[in-house]
Amino acid sequence: MTKRTATDRLIVALDMPTLNEAERLVARLGDSVTFYKVGLELIFSGGLELAAALREHGKQVFLDMKLLDIGNTVERAVANASELGVNFLTIHGHDQKTLHSAVAGRGNSNLKLLAVTVLTSLSGDDLKQQGTKLTPEELVLHRAQLAFENGFDGVIASGQEAARIRAATGPDFLIVTPGIRFTGSAMDDQERVMTPDHAISAGADYLVVGRPITQADDPYSAAQSFVQHISDSLSS
Ligand code: C5P
Repeated sequence: MTKRTATDRLIVALDMPTLNEAERLVARLGDSVTFYKVGLELIFSGGLELAAALREHGKQVFLDMKLLDIGNTVERAVANASELGVNFLTIHGHDQKTLHSAVAGRGNSNLKLLAVTVLTSLSGDDLKQQGTKLTPEELVLHRAQLAFENGFDGVIASGQEAARIRAATGPDFLIVTPGIRFTGSAMDDQERVMTPDHAISAGADYLVVGRPITQADDPYSAAQSFVQHISDSLSS
């Protein structure tokens, strides 16, 4: 990828119930957004078709499939996904077998593989319930290190962990950060949130923003406001 502008660093999550609504939002956002995330909600109502159309219109596409399965299935799923010409794909970064299978499936394609560390909607109590004694930060760092050592291009992690991941992995490992909220705005179902400014200053390369843009009265202005904050943080 060529040099990233502030606009390129904003990824809008197209979490919409129908293809029609997603297309209308993309049309409204126009040139204020260059990177879109298609996730589990939209994939079942025309998301792949939209992903192809977005690529044809010169947009970057992140397929947020959060894959986790036996190695053979992950490898073949990633191999097929790499034929779609999208830019980013997510795989749960739980273990080395899954990571290796994804890297094998990607082959020589340009698809960037991102490991989901710990969902930003999970708190320390949620992890205890899963049976782990690690804090979210400890588990994120452990999984980020594993992804880094096993050929992944980057991770999905909250802004709260970005600085420590950056310190552990160096400048080129991608940190893609959801759970972005302005101070005082609705958290929705997110737990480990951060403002755009703090996330960029902590070392995030890309910010994933859904509802604060998709449900705004004026999505275009909301997107521009995020880009402005990213730009200001990069130059401060
Ligand atoms: O609406 P909101 O800004 O909370 O959307 C965040 C997006 O990022 C959602 O599409 C969600 O699936 C995704 N995501 C996340 N936490 C992760 C990985 C992905 O919130 N760890």
